[in-house]
Amino acid sequence: MGKNRKDEQLEQFRVDDRNKKMTTNQGVKVSEDEFSLKAGLRGPTLMEDFHFREKMTHFDHERIPERVVHARGFAAHGEFELYESMEQYTKAGFLCDTSMKTPVFVRFSTVVGSKGSAETVRDVRGFATKFYTQEGNYDLVGNNMPVFFIQDAIKFPDLVHAIKPEPHNEMPQASSAHDTFWDFVANNQESAHMIMWLMSDRGIPRSFRMMEGFGVHTFRFVNAKGIAHFVKFHWKPVLGAHSLVWDEAQKISGKDPDFHRRDLYDSIESEDFPEYELGVQILAEADEFTFDFDVLDATKIWPEEDVPVKIIGKMTLNRNVDNVFAETEQVAFHTGHVVPGIDFTNDPLLQGRLFSYTDTQLIRLGGPNFHEIPINQPVCPFHNNQRDGYNRMTINKGPVSYHNNFLASNTPATSSPEEGGFEHYQEKVEGRIVRNRSDSFKDHFSQATLFWNSMSNVEKEHIAEAFCFEIGKVKNKSVKQQSVDMFANVNLELAKVIADSVGANPPTSSGSAITKASPALSQENMVKKPST
Ligand code: HEM
Repeated sequence: MGKNRKDEQLEQFRVDDRNKKMTTNQGVKVSEDEFSLKAGLRGPTLMEDFHFREKMTHFDHERIPERVVHARGFAAHGEFELYESMEQYTKAGFLCDTSMKTPVFVRFSTVVGSKGSAETVRDVRGFATKFYTQEGNYDLVGNNMPVFFIQDAIKFPDLVHAIKPEPHNEMPQASSAHDTFWDFVANNQESAHMIMWLMSDRGIPRSFRMMEGFGVHTFRFVNAKGIAHFVKFHWKPVLGAHSLVWDEAQKISGKDPDFHRRDLYDSIESEDFPEYELGVQILAEADEFTFDFDVLDATKIWPEEDVPVKIIGKMTLNRNVDNVFAETEQVAFHTGHVVPGIDFTNDPLLQGRLFSYTDTQLIRLGGPNFHEIPINQPVCPFHNNQRDGYNRMTINKGPVSYHNNFLASNTPATSSPEEGGFEHYQEKVEGRIVRNRSDSFKDHFSQATLFWNSMSNVEKEHIAEAFCFEIGKVKNKSVKQQSVDMFANVNLELAKVIADSVGANPPTSSGSAITKASPALSQENMVKKPST
């Protein structure tokens, strides 16, 4: 297997400590590493033992904060190759040139559990891909489910507080089975569609190799002529999507909490490389309002029969990391890492994510220079006038570190913007400043019902069992009842089965949906019904 540009770059940072004589971090040879320096054979340890102090201090500082979500993850290197040029839709070089192989780094994760939690729990899985393109890093920070719990980023801290272990007792760990979670769900009914996915077998994947991935949001492709299309991204595993059954998932959690990482690591070591095809759903901007849902709503899919998934390339994961901390833990993905030809939309969930990732990484990775950590460095050159800060490695030459200047204009000591650089898509935006949500985001149940109706009988049984198990763990009677009533809006029979199993009153009709109309926009329904 030949080295790609990222491998070559990482090579400069690799250190082989085997059979090397020990030194301190200052390069001084160490003569003794078992006994600290003492005043007398049985006396106190001396402060002047610089080797002891350095060794202990470094150990004391080995841990960094775990990710606030997606803490438990496992990653691998690989390559992406393009089957067919997307030039018609995007000017992103790695999606136009079929002769190019783009290095990638992919981290899979569970969302809720802490860094040491079991891997086969019922949860959403993260599927984050960093493409090291010639035009900069592009991150596709996705999940294994195509929709999300909430529509607006401002609710994300509430969602996460509800799903993480309860603060007074840190229970339960990595499970969605507790009162706060179902309380959140019943009081935030936009979560209905996502909950159906989570309760389905997609919540307990068999392997990271057998998992789909989704960008979830609607993004934008922009071509060289400046023409934009909406796009949704999909990863399709070549092995197909497969799940565990709940009984297996529980037993494996006990016997092998590392089940998914072991499976990925072993398959790569034995050269049975995991492969995923990249698919795109593309929608003309003119068709923005042709659906009975809002294309900016992250709780909705675009039905594949209306907007087919076009397969455009393949990613192969072919190398395990050398060092989990240096690579898997220190990697920093961000939805805001885009390249020319890929742009954002006004999806209110995406808009909030654009703020959150760098913000959290500033503390998780110790200040503003984490782009210099080898795994985060682009493979193309990067220059600007940003300077200093904690953990700065680069030695920028010259007295001038500002733009516009006369002094350095003919020297390489400063950098200036370039023609052909990233230009934000000039979408026309107008309106009053409001905190409301468009009425077009109000339907929380139609797609959840479609999902239920698309399931086979066995899949429906699994979903019903998952609901019964999870809501069965809820202690508060009112939360139990509210949850049952909410899912009567998806399917009355399903809700009756859950009610019977968890000791709630059977819902009599589907009618308890809480939809908060947006006063400022309630006269106008901006979404037209599909014309066909
Ligand atoms: C990780 C925020 C929604 C996928 C994270 C992290 C934060 C975060 C703070 C930790 C990042 C780090 O420490 O490096 C948010 C917010 C969201 C949101 C505020 C909504 C407003 C989503 C959605 C997806 C997603 C919709 C999937 C489409 C991921 C993944 C990771 C992650 C895959 C782990 C990345 C890794 O492996 O390092 N998110 N997230 N998140 N998020 Fe989100």
